[in-house]
Amino acid sequence: MFHTLAKSLPWTQSPLIINAPMGGFAGGELAAAVTKAGGLGMIGGVFNMNELHDHLVKATEILHAHHSLDCSKNLPVGVGLLPFISKLEEALPLITEFKPRVLWLFAAKKFEDYATWSQQVREASPDTHIWVQCGSVTAALRIVELCKPDALAMQGADAGGHGFEKGAGIVSLLPETADALQCRGLGHIPLVGAGGIADGRGTAAALALGAQGVVMGTRFLAAKETIVHRKYRAALLDAKDGGQNTVRSKIFDELRGPNIWPEAYDGRSLVTDSYTDHVNGVSIEEIRKLHNEAVKGEDAGFGENKRAVIWAGTGVGLINKVEAAADIVIQVRNAACEALQRVAKF
Ligand SMILES: Cc1cc2nc3c(=O)[nH]c(=O)nc-3n(C[C@H](O)[C@H](O)[C@H](O)COP(=O)(O)O)c2cc1C
Repeated sequence: MFHTLAKSLPWTQSPLIINAPMGGFAGGELAAAVTKAGGLGMIGGVFNMNELHDHLVKATEILHAHHSLDCSKNLPVGVGLLPFISKLEEALPLITEFKPRVLWLFAAKKFEDYATWSQQVREASPDTHIWVQCGSVTAALRIVELCKPDALAMQGADAGGHGFEKGAGIVSLLPETADALQCRGLGHIPLVGAGGIADGRGTAAALALGAQGVVMGTRFLAAKETIVHRKYRAALLDAKDGGQNTVRSKIFDELRGPNIWPEAYDGRSLVTDSYTDHVNGVSIEEIRKLHNEAVKGEDAGFGENKRAVIWAGTGVGLINKVEAAADIVIQVRNAACEALQRVAKF
């Protein structure tokens, strides 16, 4: 059942653990550590392609020094880009140069853009597989029709960071997508699950729901190799009861200036002072002013008065310590196997 991704990502171990390509947070060091531990390491696309280049160089250096990994055809990591903001003509030279195993696309302005990206990337780097993240059954079917992705990342409403404003949790999203693909003779397209998964139990559940692997963002924000402000991380470690203390809202994309995200998206963050002010009717001008002052401070707006966005999923309450990324991968993988064995006894 879990054959397909294991075959296309031969260095990985089952169940497949993937760090989310969190733009500005998941760099070359994190991706390399996750890959070395038998997961799929991902680099998050940033606005600036020079920065992405540097992260790819870093990952290449680390992985080439790790002799048990075959880097001859591909760089065994993925790169995540946002077609609504990244420029295909700027991304193509990097993809051709580094040949990442996976190009992950998310948040195109229109579905057709996934087809344009897939076609050109496949021509430029035939060994780079195209993965698309989306948050509904309808979107999954449309994307499959347009660009036949090599895998789909199904993102549930519990996810930290951006996602579909209208969405279901993975408990229904994954099996309904699997069934819908199966009905159309497309059941061979592998699914991975994202959103609220933070440990082995969530991973085991996602596998039972039809995923071949899991994507974790919030859990990896607590990895040593992730690029994250110490106050942001402290706020994550403090947070409990994610359903109460995180929230989805478009206000988080209004803080730096007018929202540039496509209409269908909002984002999940810790409940912050900016959000609370918004709910209490404070004007966006005043909220922005307070935000812009706070982010200049030493705690960058992540401290006591949380004015900056602290993207986090509902699984945040399960995260209690900072760990090496490899330890997270290995622990979650082992705990998922134990959980599956436990339930198999029922
Ligand atoms: C801090 C942060 C930044 C993110 N940035 C991106 C991104 O740049 N591109 C992307 O495709 N997804 C991004 N995501 C969403 C993830 O791909 C993934 O769906 C999500 O992290 C899964 O939910 P979880 O955080 O509960 O594990 C981000 C998530 C977080 C928490």
